[in-house]
Amino acid sequence: MSNHLLKGKKGVIFGALDENSIAWKTALKAHEEGAQFTLTNAPIAMRMGKINELAQTTGSQVIPADATSEEDLTHLFTQSQQLLGGKLDFVLHSIGMSPNIRKGRPYGDMNYEWYLKTLDISALSFHKVLQTCEKLDALNEHASVVALSYIAAQRAYPDYTDMAQAKAMLESIARSYGQRYGRSKKVRVNTISQSPTKTTAGAGISGFDVFFDYAELMSPLGNASAGECANYIVVMFSDFTRMVTMQNLMHDGGFSSSGITEELVARLSK
Ligand SMILES: NC(=O)c1ccc[n+]([C@@H]2O[C@H](COP(=O)([O-])OP(=O)(O)OC[C@H]3O[C@@H](n4cnc5c(N)ncnc54)[C@H](O)[C@@H]3O)[C@@H](O)[C@H]2O)c1
Repeated sequence: MSNHLLKGKKGVIFGALDENSIAWKTALKAHEEGAQFTLTNAPIAMRMGKINELAQTTGSQVIPADATSEEDLTHLFTQSQQLLGGKLDFVLHSIGMSPNIRKGRPYGDMNYEWYLKTLDISALSFHKVLQTCEKLDALNEHASVVALSYIAAQRAYPDYTDMAQAKAMLESIARSYGQRYGRSKKVRVNTISQSPTKTTAGAGISGFDVFFDYAELMSPLGNASAGECANYIVVMFSDFTRMVTMQNLMHDGGFSSSGITEELVARLSK
């Protein structure tokens, strides 16, 4: 059922790889709520992904862009405004990748070139997106920019390795750029810290199934699904959250505020 929360709003959605992606679910929900948007992903991901199916369902155009390339981003935001007929009201940054995690490197044996790539793709790209939008004056007043984070920004997780630093940086960029963009154009910038979610990026982390189950037991509401995350993102794009900015918003079923739960005590007592 649509509440027309995004009626008349225009935006750009990064990161829909397949139907499990948080960005994919967000595109479907944003479409249902009346938004128009362009879809984008890295050229290499597009060849493997199924983004054209999603574009058809949502009546969107696809514009390839490597989120680390300022040139690609300038093209993306210029084209998006042309196709959608004006400035934008929302941007979703749903991007994460660590070559060190992909190649199974432990935290004590990092490849530093890859480490820098992790930071560039998963965090600095968020700054590049914001700076490109500002330079092109691509966003309307009260526009909402959201990136996806994970609680490993605040707590140590052995297998999340260099992605933990990327997420800490991502959240910091949301604060610093949110302050700047809020003053100049009333643009809101936030991160949403999501529960472990069964997607390509999520399942790529070793031990994922264990910390998925652990988080489920530690969250009074259980783990938040990708679809539920999409609902929250749509609310953050809507006019109902106009005064929320520079925040890292926990979307985790209560995990981050739980010390221990009865479910976990019961499990460990056996
Ligand atoms: N899955 C989880 O458990 C979980 C939990 C919390 C936060 N997140 C975050 O949610 C976001 C979306 O991930 P997801 O779980 O939907 O997985 P996903 O694998 O479906 O999405 C990750 C996307 O990043 C894109 N990407 C990688 N390199 C890129 C580049 N250079 N330029 C542009 N795009 C690039 C990929 O093509 C892919 O579409 C990520 O930031 C991830 O860290 C995921």
